[in-house]
Amino acid sequence: MDFLATVGGVAALGAAAHKYELVEIPQLEHAWKVAAVAGVAAVGAALQTAAEFNPLARSMQLLSTFQSIESSTQADVSSSIDAYNSLYDETKTDDERNQAYSSLVDSYYNLVTLFYEWGWGSSFHFAYRMLGESFSESIRRHEYYLMSFLGAGKGDRVLDVGCGIGGPLTNIARFEGPEVDLTGITINQHQVSRGNTRCKQLGLSHRCRLVRGDFTQMPFKDAVFDGAYSIEATCHAPDRRTVFSEVYRTLKPGSYFASYEWVITENHDPNNAKDVDMLHKVMQGDGLPSLNTIEEVKEAMRDVGFEVVMDRDMAKDPEQVVPWYQPLQSTWNPLSFRFQFNWLGRTVMSNLLRVLELFWLAPAGTARVQDMLQLAAQGLVYCGERQTFTVMHILVGRKPLDA
Ligand SMILES: C[S@@+](CC[C@H](N)C(=O)[O-])C[C@H]1O[C@@H](n2cnc3c(N)ncnc32)[C@H](O)[C@@H]1O
Repeated sequence: MDFLATVGGVAALGAAAHKYELVEIPQLEHAWKVAAVAGVAAVGAALQTAAEFNPLARSMQLLSTFQSIESSTQADVSSSIDAYNSLYDETKTDDERNQAYSSLVDSYYNLVTLFYEWGWGSSFHFAYRMLGESFSESIRRHEYYLMSFLGAGKGDRVLDVGCGIGGPLTNIARFEGPEVDLTGITINQHQVSRGNTRCKQLGLSHRCRLVRGDFTQMPFKDAVFDGAYSIEATCHAPDRRTVFSEVYRTLKPGSYFASYEWVITENHDPNNAKDVDMLHKVMQGDGLPSLNTIEEVKEAMRDVGFEVVMDRDMAKDPEQVVPWYQPLQSTWNPLSFRFQFNWLGRTVMSNLLRVLELFWLAPAGTARVQDMLQLAAQGLVYCGERQTFTVMHILVGRKPLDA
């Protein structure tokens, strides 16, 4: 990148010198145009170098990893994204998506897991920020807060329901200390492999593991866990009862289940076309078969046997200074990761990916995956700003002692 900035800068200076007749370069008939293009390249490359996270280098690394995953799993990105998107065309109903939900969710996470880890980190969830808090501190606080409802102690076994690549699981393992054992379940094999590699790298594999399975039919015996939590995951189930009943079955009597739920709020207006359209973008961009209200989710929790001991929409918490959807809000600051969310950043990114696909530097279909993630971002920001939807309604249930 330094090299590109230097070459661009020298070319810009050379073309400008020619224009002012300080030097004679016969080939340069359009000196100003050359100077402008070279100057932009130089500034762009210099900005990339100056930016803390060097987005261009990281993007190239992401694309090459995406390519190697595509060849090792023999999953064709182009047909996967087409098949996925077809489930959301206008002719498809919630029922059809619900029937296809497990393959829908699995193919969604095959496509996006790498992008999530690259853009967000190892914990795939939102958090609002409090005064003086960094993004990663807020993410961890959000996890520890949920965990605090389980009251885990010496020798306890805890389940993470829909665990991603295990970011929350390993953070919580460190927080809880050496005597708590954690198991995560996810439907996606790539997440299991990546997560177990992380557990090993972090020296936690003796008490942390990820297993592949559908959380609506868990591969665990009855009453084996002392607590369970779930972060922004149960919304992927067509009916919450299917996952809550499995959590209930695998918990010991008297144990707690705490969850951050994605739900529609009372502010959503089904007669407002924009509200409906944006919610559809959230569903399509986030791999959700259908959506529910908190009342429906609480009812599902009670129906399977839990006592609901607490619930609150944390998006309304008064002490926050940065809302949960802020990382997805667009900005014109070219050094910010969020530049990609304005119309210019979106267009440049999408076309750049298409060019990279043409030269086999990115798997065919990558630009369409990016477009789908942009849908999610637009929908979530709209719904977050208007509070028509929340990603952090905390719900805590207890399995009765006499169950
Ligand atoms: C938004 S991610 C959240 C991941 C994790 N809780 C975190 O915060 O990093 C949702 C997770 O739910 C998992 N998931 C969705 N449906 C599932 C199912 N039927 N069975 C198991 N896992 C599922 C996905 O594979 C993914 O890991």
